[in-house]
Amino acid sequence: MLIFTKISELQPFLTHAKDSSKTLGFVPTMGALHKGHVSLIEISKKTCDLTLCSIFVNPTQFNDKKDLERYPRMPEKDIHLLQLAGCDVLFMPEVTEIYPNDETKEYNFGNIGTTLEGEFRPGHFSGVAQVVQRFFEIIQPDTAFFGSKDYQQVMIIKALVKQMASPIKIVACPILREDDGLAMSSRNALLNAEERSVASLIPKIMGQAKEIAATSGISSAKQYIKNEISKEPIMRLDYFEVCEAETLKIVSTLTKASSHIALIACFVGRIRLIDNIPLN
Ligand code: PAJ
Repeated sequence: MLIFTKISELQPFLTHAKDSSKTLGFVPTMGALHKGHVSLIEISKKTCDLTLCSIFVNPTQFNDKKDLERYPRMPEKDIHLLQLAGCDVLFMPEVTEIYPNDETKEYNFGNIGTTLEGEFRPGHFSGVAQVVQRFFEIIQPDTAFFGSKDYQQVMIIKALVKQMASPIKIVACPILREDDGLAMSSRNALLNAEERSVASLIPKIMGQAKEIAATSGISSAKQYIKNEISKEPIMRLDYFEVCEAETLKIVSTLTKASSHIALIACFVGRIRLIDNIPLN
């Protein structure tokens, strides 16, 4: 696996790949890699000639400084995992390489940018869009792969490429889960044993809420989630909502006309976790 930290060193490689008509798949990450990330590399390798992964803990998308400071960093382990996965190129730049001028950018994505994560993490999606746009401009991949665990993020990236009038194809990949159903996340590494055990409630109550929404309606499902979370002293709910899958418009009744998705964000101790489940 080739490893680059400088844009100037990555560029000749990219030019050579383009000149030899190789298709390039891109998997952006913030490191502390797990099987969920590896699954994106595997999907990229199936459809593209070359796969490039980036590791960059992007400061502009952290609205909480402490969250940024405590974000897990383990580059040696990450490099090893990527080599095992057969990744062709790793780009791991310093902050000054990506943001030489310390600028921040504002984006407007309408409702999909302001609802849910947009409401609870102000500025988060502008930071995500800023770094992904910067990477897209540097790397110019044919296809970029994102996980559906961050459902709203995928919608933002799709809106971003539209705004950029970019030909990059965005592929949404399935959520990988631990044996007890917890969605894999770099943040899981920060949970202590008690928190990790409590976190396994998230997929369980989401599955139950899906059943309740189908049989008794969305408000019963919401009440159920609130009750279950209030039973756990170390859990705190940011939101649980049912939305139209295509627009992220929050709905209060399920209709056959559109497909729906339930999304949750909650704290387990100091660690904020998100998950989602399609309803139909
Ligand atoms: P990060 O949290 O490192 O995630 C990198 C990619 O892995 C994202 O597309 C995310 O959705 C995907 N992913 C994470 N957990 C997953 C799981 N359990 N199953 C499948 N895919 C999973 O998301 C980011 O980084 C950043 O916001 C980034 C896009 C890199 C911009 O900084």
